[in-house]
Amino acid sequence: NVLQASSSSLRPSATVSAIELADIDWDNLGFGLQPTDYMYFMKCDQGGTFTKGQLKRFGNIELNPSAGVLNYGQGLFEGLKAYRKEDGNILLFRPEENALRMKMGAERMCMPSPSVEQFVEAVKDTVLANKRWIPPQGKGSLYIRPLLMGSGAVLGLAPAPEYTFLIYVSPVGNYFKEGLAPINLIVESELHRATPGGTGGVKTIGNYAAVLKAQSAAKAKGYSDVLYLDCVHKRYLEEVSSCNIFVVKGNVISTPSIKGTILPGITRKSIIDVARSQGFEVEERLVSVDELVEADEVFCTGTAVVVSPVGSVTYHGKKVSYGDGIGAVSQQLYTVLTRLQMGLAEDNMNWTVEL
Ligand code: COI
Repeated sequence: NVLQASSSSLRPSATVSAIELADIDWDNLGFGLQPTDYMYFMKCDQGGTFTKGQLKRFGNIELNPSAGVLNYGQGLFEGLKAYRKEDGNILLFRPEENALRMKMGAERMCMPSPSVEQFVEAVKDTVLANKRWIPPQGKGSLYIRPLLMGSGAVLGLAPAPEYTFLIYVSPVGNYFKEGLAPINLIVESELHRATPGGTGGVKTIGNYAAVLKAQSAAKAKGYSDVLYLDCVHKRYLEEVSSCNIFVVKGNVISTPSIKGTILPGITRKSIIDVARSQGFEVEERLVSVDELVEADEVFCTGTAVVVSPVGSVTYHGKKVSYGDGIGAVSQQLYTVLTRLQMGLAEDNMNWTVEL
């Protein structure tokens, strides 16, 4: 049940005349794990170089109980998507950006990382091996989850002696159950997801465990998710548990600048460029929580959430509402971005990679 990962010249063509699809309910995809056929597996040698990637049947993995990732959280993940075009061909969205972000995170977490080329080739191999799980156009996308972990055994606190790079995939639909309907956020000012000098700016697994408490409490009160404030002034917007945040006022779109405590989202960066190309002014700066009151629209961005409109934000018991439907600016940016991602519009940005 092991396939040697193919070199690009040996890779089967992505073009299929009759599209063979897995037998699942494509009309009701949410954001839950659907096991697929293959996962990618690559270990590094003692010198920290990754070699010999393999595609294996998707399934459980074996780890030493003393693995660095299990004991000390030495792990990173990425998230990107593959879309099926109308002609059946497959598009990846900016995979090199994820490879570069993983490299940056690995440096912070004292881990070796695959080269950008290894990362992108591994993503392509994994997607093609699971081609039948890529949703038909308009039904969703294939979410690709690369992981990098300290798989070697450690007892005393130290970087692990061995690392594993793994990729699994799952077809997904909307992240929030609301779909494109606006989500309701609550501002959290006591629990923080990141601190200056910490790891908030990299995609380490612990950042996500750290938000679960506030997120669970918010969901129990009926909110969709939590909006975090900076931990020093408890005043400036940071991000939502799983996505970045944007505030629209007139023709100006503002988003918190990247300063170590905010994840440098690839959708965030793409939306900034899309918005500028559409004639909006975009400011990356400190955005005060008070600005939410005056805003015309608020929206979130992320690989999983894409562009998600915010219907209300509650802060210290006061609720600011932005309407029941998606705002015009959020809709415009969502449409331009997703048409490009799905191959429905010309990719003037050169962001998509066709398989
Ligand atoms: C993504 O958008 O890809 C993320 O990594 C967020 C995750 C919590 C689903």
